[in-house]
Amino acid sequence: MPPKLYSFNTTVPIPDHAEVLDLPTDGISDSPTTLPKGILPNGGYKTTSLRGLSFSAPYLHDGGVAVRAGSLRVDSDGRFTVVDPSGLGLTGTLSQALTADAASSLRALVDRKLRALVVKANQANPALVRSNLDGTGHDFYVDRQAGFDSRQQTDLINFLLALDEDPGSF
Ligand code: HEM
Repeated sequence: MPPKLYSFNTTVPIPDHAEVLDLPTDGISDSPTTLPKGILPNGGYKTTSLRGLSFSAPYLHDGGVAVRAGSLRVDSDGRFTVVDPSGLGLTGTLSQALTADAASSLRALVDRKLRALVVKANQANPALVRSNLDGTGHDFYVDRQAGFDSRQQTDLINFLLALDEDPGSF
């Protein structure tokens, strides 16, 4: 069916005669159930922007890639150690109304060993399992196993954090 939404001033619980709006899809996709065309002639997956990553942790569609500030110690050569495992995953962050740290969470996005620890922490929390939030997916890593050293990994994280509304001026 065509997508609809309640007008933005609708109160909750939804009143019986709430205003329902048509969601415009012209130019977005051929039909409400096909992929948006974007820049790809056959349609595709529209990813979230990488601009503003320093403000948008935790990451991925479920926000499961989350690490609290102070959980990692990063040495001057870029190597990191988990110094406080209680800060890993949504269990250590949003579940306790604590924010996820952008740099540490990006580290968990690109480092498979750290990601595995974050996923493990999420999967040990029954409330997160019920909501299907675990931080898996996006298996593109910039770590030792992929041939990058700690300094290169840290450089990438700093680059990602620096992407703002004017990435050309980095
Ligand atoms: C090492 C290279 C890569 C880096 C550093 C990187 C970086 C990122 C980051 C930081 C996000 C999270 C954005 C957010 O949640 O706000 C993301 C999401 C995403 N990226 Fe990448 N990416 C890389 C490679 C790739 C590749 C090769 C593809 C496609 C083949 C890809 C497709 C996606 C998709 C589909 C998402 C959304 C995933 C989701 O929400 O679960 N990425 N990427």
